[in-house]
Amino acid sequence: MLKEAVDSSLEHLRPWLPWAHELPMPLEATVELLRGFRGQFDLGQEFVYAIFSPDESEAIGGTGLHTRRGEGVFEIGYWIHTSRAGEGFATEATAALTRVAFEVCGVERVEIRTDPENAPSLAIPRKLGFVEEGRLRNAAHGRDGTPLRADSVVFGLLRAEFTGTPAASVALEAFDAAGRRLL
Ligand SMILES: CC(C)(COP(=O)(O)OP(=O)(O)OC[C@H]1O[C@@H](n2cnc3c(N)ncnc32)[C@H](O)[C@@H]1OP(=O)(O)O)[C@@H](O)C(=O)NCCC(=O)NCCS
Repeated sequence: MLKEAVDSSLEHLRPWLPWAHELPMPLEATVELLRGFRGQFDLGQEFVYAIFSPDESEAIGGTGLHTRRGEGVFEIGYWIHTSRAGEGFATEATAALTRVAFEVCGVERVEIRTDPENAPSLAIPRKLGFVEEGRLRNAAHGRDGTPLRADSVVFGLLRAEFTGTPAASVALEAFDAAGRRLL
């Protein structure tokens, strides 16, 4: 499903979703990948989420709060299956995780990096009140450290700016792993 989403997009997505080109994976490898996500989540290292259709019958995408930008900062990433693109799911998921980042996790900054040519992706932080901070030249790297010729547009939202943004007003119920209501 994800490979289909990426193959049908442009080659310039490769720096953003390098792992997607390894799909489809054998079932065992997928189980290991998901176990890894779960383990990282429980250890507080990285927070990867699936996005489901509203009736929860279908996995339609993925998102996450990523810790790679350092202490007190989360970066949000997202992808949506092509069959469900343009329905607002990535925007809604990003708004929800922005609320979680500030209101549950207490970070100081949320960041989103996108390809300058990826119009739907650029539209998401713009719609949610993130500030466009600049363009990093040739800043993306493959998982093995190989530089990829890709620029990144960096968007940031600070704790002090969050109140009053469209992201802050998204309806959200959040629960911890034990099922306790957080928001
Ligand atoms: C980018 C992506 C996540 C968007 O997901 P989505 O659920 O379709 O996004 P949404 O529906 O929430 O919002 C997309 C916005 O982009 C806008 N948009 C779509 N195509 C556009 C275009 N060519 N030019 C400008 N805006 C465009 C839509 O109109 C929408 O804004 P609106 O709600 O104001 O109309 C999805 O296309 C995807 O998974 N792409 C492949 C992976 C990827 O690029 N991930 C991001 C890496 S940085």
